[in-house]
Amino acid sequence: MARPLTVLGIESSCDDTAAAVVRGHDVLASVVYGQTALHADFGGVVPEVAARAHAEKLDHCVEDALSAAGLHLADLDAIAVTAGPGLIGGVLSGVMCAKGLAAATGLPLIGVNHLAGHALTPRLTDQVAYPYLMLLVSGGHCQFLIVAGPDKYCRLGGTIDDAPGEAFDKTARILGLSQPGGPAVETAGTGGDPRAFDLPRPLLNQPGCDMSFSGLKTAMLRARDAVVTAKGGLTRQDQADLSASFQAAIADVLVEKTRRALAIYLAMKPAHPCFAIAGGVAANQVIRARLMQLCAGLDTDFAAPPLALCTDNAAMIAYAGAELLALGQRDDLTLSARPRWPLDKTAAPMLGSGKKGAKA
Ligand code: KG4
Ligand code: ZN
Repeated sequence: MARPLTVLGIESSCDDTAAAVVRGHDVLASVVYGQTALHADFGGVVPEVAARAHAEKLDHCVEDALSAAGLHLADLDAIAVTAGPGLIGGVLSGVMCAKGLAAATGLPLIGVNHLAGHALTPRLTDQVAYPYLMLLVSGGHCQFLIVAGPDKYCRLGGTIDDAPGEAFDKTARILGLSQPGGPAVETAGTGGDPRAFDLPRPLLNQPGCDMSFSGLKTAMLRARDAVVTAKGGLTRQDQADLSASFQAAIADVLVEKTRRALAIYLAMKPAHPCFAIAGGVAANQVIRARLMQLCAGLDTDFAAPPLALCTDNAAMIAYAGAELLALGQRDDLTLSARPRWPLDKTAAPMLGSGKKGAKA
């Protein structure tokens, strides 16, 4: 068997500066410097602030990852870097850093699509066999992909406007809960009645796997205002009921659209059927449990990487780089940053973009 490749990964496409060292399926080190505090006052990621912070932190992040792995640059086989999609200033910072390291060491350089990093994570963590069905669901992405190889993706559908994580964050703001909104809404909703408020399930009656979440945010605003007008404020129980009802609406949409995506995937008669989820929203226990239940009823394995590898990180970039390198792909110093870079070149362009910037 070939010796597993040792790859340094670099990620800076949004608001996390990350570097990692991966050898085969082992994550030797994964360092993430988040920027949440830097953007907290602005209600979203400020591209210029993000780019500057990436440029300042990348060198240290790479040094930290190498030292945590107990390795030197000379021990590496390649350098993989996110070359898009994402916020252009941040992606450029990462690409420049990787090019510098490649030029200095002579190591192969490989530009990785950030979404491919997420999509290949179930192979890094669970060695899932191709082809599998993937749902990427976070604050910036929401799409179904059939993953048939490190460079073979078929996009079955996705959000036409906001990503669900964005809707969770907005809902938390509407209800006076803390950020990030997903965990806050999940916790608040624990004691709530998911049928207390009749919220829309957008696009559920339309055929296909596309989704829409922006109308749900407006519906939440109206539902809250109606309670405030009637009672003069929100009680804890109102917060719980609104949170539970919102979460049920998102879960209903994700489950029904996953059912449709699974029907398309299972018609391919995969030898080892598997559905995998990744992204911050995949942490939600209600959503996770309902998707698991759906898969169990369809004799399909369910894979959910640990949260630290579901959210933005560089281990996924290093791993994707290793798979691409094994296919013989590599870049040279002309590698450029691509703010938009769809995984499935044949799919119609996505209309929406998340709060963290256009992703694909
Ligand atoms: O993948 P991620 O860390 O970053 C990107 O958006 O790329 O995802 C963050 C998003 C946030 O919108 C956050 O509110 C949401 O994931 N999230 C959750 C939960 N934990 C994080 N949403 C629902 N339930 C959760 N438990
Ligand atoms: Zn991401």
